[in-house]
Amino acid sequence: MSFYNRNITKQGVLLFFCILISIFFLKLFYEDSKLKSLPIPSNQDDELLSLPFEKSFEHERSIFFIEGFGKDHIPARMICSIESAALAHRNTPIDVMMTSQILRKSEGIKSLLKAYSNVRFLYLNATALYMESPMKEWFLNKMWVQSKFPEINFDDPLRFLLLFKYGGIYLDMDTIVLKNLEKEENFVGLEIDEHINSAIMGFRKGHPLLNDCIEEMTKHFDGEAWGVNGPVLITKIFRRRDDLDKIFEDDNEFANTLLNDPNFLTLHFYNQLTKTRTISLKRQSIFSVLARNLCPITAFVFNYSF
Ligand SMILES: *[C@@H]1O[C@H](CO)[C@@H](O)[C@H](O)[C@H]1NC(C)=O
Repeated sequence: MSFYNRNITKQGVLLFFCILISIFFLKLFYEDSKLKSLPIPSNQDDELLSLPFEKSFEHERSIFFIEGFGKDHIPARMICSIESAALAHRNTPIDVMMTSQILRKSEGIKSLLKAYSNVRFLYLNATALYMESPMKEWFLNKMWVQSKFPEINFDDPLRFLLLFKYGGIYLDMDTIVLKNLEKEENFVGLEIDEHINSAIMGFRKGHPLLNDCIEEMTKHFDGEAWGVNGPVLITKIFRRRDDLDKIFEDDNEFANTLLNDPNFLTLHFYNQLTKTRTISLKRQSIFSVLARNLCPITAFVFNYSF
């Protein structure tokens, strides 16, 4: 090869690289402009959540939590709730379904994910879930939008639709799990003697009772009454607010009963009514004792106070 030819070849190679690099940049730019329509995490601790593969739930074993209000962060007590489920079910996927595509990863969340490999945060496309369900018409009619409690009425059916579609266990994020729940089959939590509550339930996929709940919600929707979108009379229970204070009072003995008596499986602490009260977890209140035992990492990360 002559000197001249070698030079041409060199130039050719150079040109080729230039084109490659430009294509590379064009591609980057193109992908960047495509991303513009997606929410973009604003700091390095935010994570863009992905849609789960349908296969993730095929064993009907997941324990689901739902953040149905589009929030991107999870407060300490709710992380405690997730941890208690993860601790009691080490080999079960604990799937926190977020209607926000972005998760803000606080220290609490980071520690949780580090300590429990069974916890997953996944994006829940609520629109898609509604549109593929028997509630499609209800959803398209947008009746909940004009209702008195639009967010709650949008959020409440999601748990039923999710369990109907995939099967598994659903827990509200203000529930502390005391015992392993996997021996239970097709169950709903008992709140007080005569009331059940959809805050805690487990069903196999397509269970007829879930179907009935979904049908009932669709046909007899009353947007003006609080919490009507469940098969339960939660309203009445809420009036018994006094009872809730008890979980913040010292009662080591009762806390131990909750921990050891096989009849008590979960504690529902009604976050909506109790969230304004910060409590030291070093005390002997029922909540403090349970949190120390059942969400030890979250308690530690938040310096024994939440
Ligand atoms: C959610 O699902 C709807 C309906 O299938 C779809 O139009 C929308 O693009 C989805 N959103 C995301 C962020 O995936």
